[in-house]
Amino acid sequence: MSTTAPLFQHHKHCDEIFASAEDACANGEWAAGEKAFALLLSQLETHFTSEEEVLFPAFEAATGMTSGPTEVMRGEHRQMRDLLAQMQGALAVRDSDTFGGAAETLLILMQQHNMKEENILYPMCDNALGASDVGASLAARLKSS
Ligand SMILES: [Fe+2]
Ligand SMILES: [Fe+2]
Repeated sequence: MSTTAPLFQHHKHCDEIFASAEDACANGEWAAGEKAFALLLSQLETHFTSEEEVLFPAFEAATGMTSGPTEVMRGEHRQMRDLLAQMQGALAVRDSDTFGGAAETLLILMQQHNMKEENILYPMCDNALGASDVGASLAARLKSS
């Protein structure tokens, strides 16, 4: 299994939770929406921190590239966290328009972000970290989340 395989699979897992949170809120099923959103929030936070605290530093140490793709990805994580905070605020006051607008922006951003990671950054990490135990630490973090 490649170093980044656990993150790759976790993208799909988060996509599914995202879709159920969005569906529930769009249909006015607020209790189900809140439950799915809370799960989405914790899973995405686990995902982002696994990248920020484990994968990116290991990649930067192995390649010396500290202001390249990992810096761009950190910036996008910040933007996604902002959108999640907007969604959380909208959910609290049952504002489906605001929730839906922020969710739409987040979905596009997340799709583009994940595509960049899966097609560019993760393969670079797999090359740089092939013989390390980074893959095992990522799998452990994502499993216990
Ligand atoms: Fe990421
Ligand atoms: Fe990711």
